[in-house]
Amino acid sequence: MTGSVGAPAERREGREKVGGTARYAAEYHYPGRAQAWPVPAAVARGRVTGVDTAAALAVPGVLAVLTHENAPRLAEPDDPTLAVLQDPRVPHRGWFVALVVAETLEAARAGAAAVRVDYAAEEHDVTLTASHPGVYVPEEAGAGYPAVREHGDPDGAFGASTARVDVAYRVPPLHNHPMEPHTSTARWEDGRLIVHTSSQGTGAVQGVLAGLFGVPEDRVVVTAEHVGGGFGSKGTPRPDVVLAAMAARQTGRAVTVALPRRYLPAVVGHRAPTLHRLRLGADADGHLTSLVHEVTTHTSRIKEFVEQAAVPARVMYAAPHSRTEHRVAALDVPSPSWMRAPGEAPGMYALESAMDELAAELGMDPVELRVRNEPDVEPDSGKPFSSRHLVECLRDGARRFGWAGRDPRPGSRRDGPLLRGTGVAAATYPVMVWPATASARALPDGTFLVRVNATDIGTGARTVLAQVGADALGAPLERVRIDVGSTELPSAPLAGGSSGTASWGWAVHEACTRLARRLAEHTGPLPEQGLDARADTRGSADAGSDWARHAFGAHFAEVAVDTVTGEVRVGRLLGVYAAGRILNARTARSQFVGGMTMGLGMALTEGSTMDAAFGDFTESDLASYHVPVHADVDRIEAHWLDEDDPRLNPMGSKGIGEIGIVGTAAAIGNAVHHATGVRFRELPLTPDRVL
Ligand code: MOS
Repeated sequence: MTGSVGAPAERREGREKVGGTARYAAEYHYPGRAQAWPVPAAVARGRVTGVDTAAALAVPGVLAVLTHENAPRLAEPDDPTLAVLQDPRVPHRGWFVALVVAETLEAARAGAAAVRVDYAAEEHDVTLTASHPGVYVPEEAGAGYPAVREHGDPDGAFGASTARVDVAYRVPPLHNHPMEPHTSTARWEDGRLIVHTSSQGTGAVQGVLAGLFGVPEDRVVVTAEHVGGGFGSKGTPRPDVVLAAMAARQTGRAVTVALPRRYLPAVVGHRAPTLHRLRLGADADGHLTSLVHEVTTHTSRIKEFVEQAAVPARVMYAAPHSRTEHRVAALDVPSPSWMRAPGEAPGMYALESAMDELAAELGMDPVELRVRNEPDVEPDSGKPFSSRHLVECLRDGARRFGWAGRDPRPGSRRDGPLLRGTGVAAATYPVMVWPATASARALPDGTFLVRVNATDIGTGARTVLAQVGADALGAPLERVRIDVGSTELPSAPLAGGSSGTASWGWAVHEACTRLARRLAEHTGPLPEQGLDARADTRGSADAGSDWARHAFGAHFAEVAVDTVTGEVRVGRLLGVYAAGRILNARTARSQFVGGMTMGLGMALTEGSTMDAAFGDFTESDLASYHVPVHADVDRIEAHWLDEDDPRLNPMGSKGIGEIGIVGTAAAIGNAVHHATGVRFRELPLTPDRVL
């Protein structure tokens, strides 16, 4: 071991990014490369009855206008959101009904503005309520979790409990809004499709394109060398990549489709709104007797996606009686999808807010209430935890934050016009891992080349995988080169579900360990082409387990609420995580802090409104959908416990990309209650709500 793992190694591509030479999907300047601009549907439900393209085609530089009448025919996709320009149906506002291809971006945009589309509009319904007549219990919630789980007699036990909380919360629709919008450049060359795309996983893009266009997978090459974030919205292929490949086929050019920011909310998924009802019953000592979490959410007419927001309640606390249930209504809305910590982020906002309400009801410290309800085994499954250090996170966080001696009375800290308060919430996120393949080569010059189709979406994946490889090889980090981000590399799963490093790293570790063994047996100089080893973790890194594997964390927040303006300022956020072994202290801190920053946005500024009349999201760009900026974040601290869990993977890591967002909004909301004595149960906590 050379001790690379754990070290705060700098991002390998950092200099390229800062210097502007890192190449993103829009920056492949092939000769004759054309640009395209989509036309979104202007009705929320109905059919396209006619497209008049004459004016668009008359715009200088416009090469083609693709519509459902002339676009290449695709095989039917598994994902209905990718069946673009195949039929005249409009399932929601913002669905693409045409694509203008031109010599320049400006001409494409002008052409798109000149396309005239006629519709036969139908009545639409986009408004979710808990009592919507279309609400049903689905077969499954998101990620394949059972929609309903019940233990004992939760209603009876709730009625018989000493302390009760029966509350409803609402989390609005939220948008992923990665820095780099969804973008693809495609070209066809001798029957091969070559694509550069902004994706969290090129393997899925390759498979989907091969299927849609009816070409063998080995004739489709997809790269994602640098990706400006995704937050789940690039976990599956999006219309940009299909449109780029179609337009390239139609025009014989390389074509770039860079989705305009304002079009993203309708076509790249969103976190669906969730309506929560929580019923917590406890005895006088604070032991939960009953825990009921019911979630109602929406999905689109074309695709069922059910935000699995009641799932974390199956993991968190011991309660002899419980029910967790998901319900959904299919509305004329854009298709929701994954957004950072799908399920956990909104679900734990509700559960951890309700736990705070229960603590207040009991007159008990909210840290102690959580400690008191620590389960011996995973409550829903009865499986033992591979490791669980939530109590340690809470205790360590309380110590670092200075929680002891807190006056629990709400509204007790007045400071001129400001009311100050502090809050706590717990966090959890499941440990996921998928099979992957990787190769490693030792070269005569003493360097190594590791290859794996990982995707570095800005997290530092390249760097961390090189560290894993270096340690397995017993080599200095700077001698290990790594190639990621192409389907030409050994196949590997996406950067999603906080599973990337565990999945890719496992294969890298295996390949490098094998290579080290080969090298140890090798005598004499290496052949010119080097020595190779390869690993495939199918069979070892599969999903089933006898252990409940989750990361845990604790979030503490300090807020000041301005009683004149209604503004909530977060003066301090502190998170402590137990997420297995931390493989790179620098990139891990960045992930945790990034998650907490996103949670701060969820708490205070991020929220989207479904316009009932027009059927679209009113806050569709960054001028109206407010993500936190530096000035919104005073002090964010991320800490972690050294957690040694041998039941994960060879690195002992759990995954860190999502847990930072999970408890943050609840901690802030609980702090606002402590500051003001008022319980707000709908996010975000904007001044108009707080005043
Ligand atoms: Mo993440 S929402 O699993 O990409």
